[in-house]
Amino acid sequence: MSLDYIINIENLKKSFGSTVILKDINLQLKKGETVVTLGKSGTGKSVTLKCIVGLISPDSGTLRILGKNIPELNYEQLLYIRKKIGFVFQSGALYDSMSVRENLMFPLIRNTDMNKNEIESKVEEVLNDVGLLDAINKMPSELSGGMKKRIGVARTIIMNPEIMLWDEPTTGLDPETTRDISHLIVRMQRKYNVTSIVVTHDMICAKIVANRIVVLKEGKYTESGTYDELEKSTDNFVRSFFEDVNNNEKEKLSNYERK
Ligand SMILES: Nc1ncnc2c1ncn2[C@@H]1O[C@H](COP(=O)(O)OP(=O)(O)OP(=O)(O)O)[C@@H](O)[C@H]1O
Ligand SMILES: [Mg+2]
Repeated sequence: MSLDYIINIENLKKSFGSTVILKDINLQLKKGETVVTLGKSGTGKSVTLKCIVGLISPDSGTLRILGKNIPELNYEQLLYIRKKIGFVFQSGALYDSMSVRENLMFPLIRNTDMNKNEIESKVEEVLNDVGLLDAINKMPSELSGGMKKRIGVARTIIMNPEIMLWDEPTTGLDPETTRDISHLIVRMQRKYNVTSIVVTHDMICAKIVANRIVVLKEGKYTESGTYDELEKSTDNFVRSFFEDVNNNEKEKLSNYERK
């Protein structure tokens, strides 16, 4: 039954002007599942995530998220659902004038009735999760790109979302940080049974986090399978993602299994 799905997207279509981006998107995720979306640049991966949180309105189709069809919701209902969804944007999107501590306290002060001590310990807990407790008093301008990204992740997970949407969480990060963020995605799944969609073209990340991978091509998901299944695909388009992983990296990848 469709209500079993935390995310159930059917026949989603979206064009901008005369350009069709999403032709017919269908995607179902059960609670606690992590699905990775692969696809070339500019093909609609971020647009799909933005449709899920109602930042972009689809032309047609249903987007049933936690049982509610997003395009049918009024603004208040949409805000209520959004509180259960963590969106890790392609850019970190931190407030430059606030310290790391303040950036993390902000969503808790605004959206919860936690007291000061609870907030303090939650901030420390999530900073620990992303390995940046040392940065608690720094300003965003003092952080590297990778650190900003990790603080952006911390700010999202601090709200204990039921659904996490990760838009290129590891792009531009070094292999070690990539592995750390990827393991964090797995930890979120194990610790809180979070349901995640991860947009990436980073195969190290895909290998670590994916229960299932879907491949976006010409506005549809053309392939679906586990990392190991898709790695054996004979389809040239699917192969192109795996071929980017050269032999040397492949050797390293064997160290990056889900732990
Ligand atoms: N608000 C918008 N108005 C008009 N066109 C848009 C809008 N948002 C996205 N597009 C277009 O839709 C297409 C898909 O964009 P999207 O951001 O989803 O790509 P993507 O698959 O996430 O690519 P990348 O891997 O580079 O992030 C692009 O051609 C983009 O220019
Ligand atoms: Mg994108």
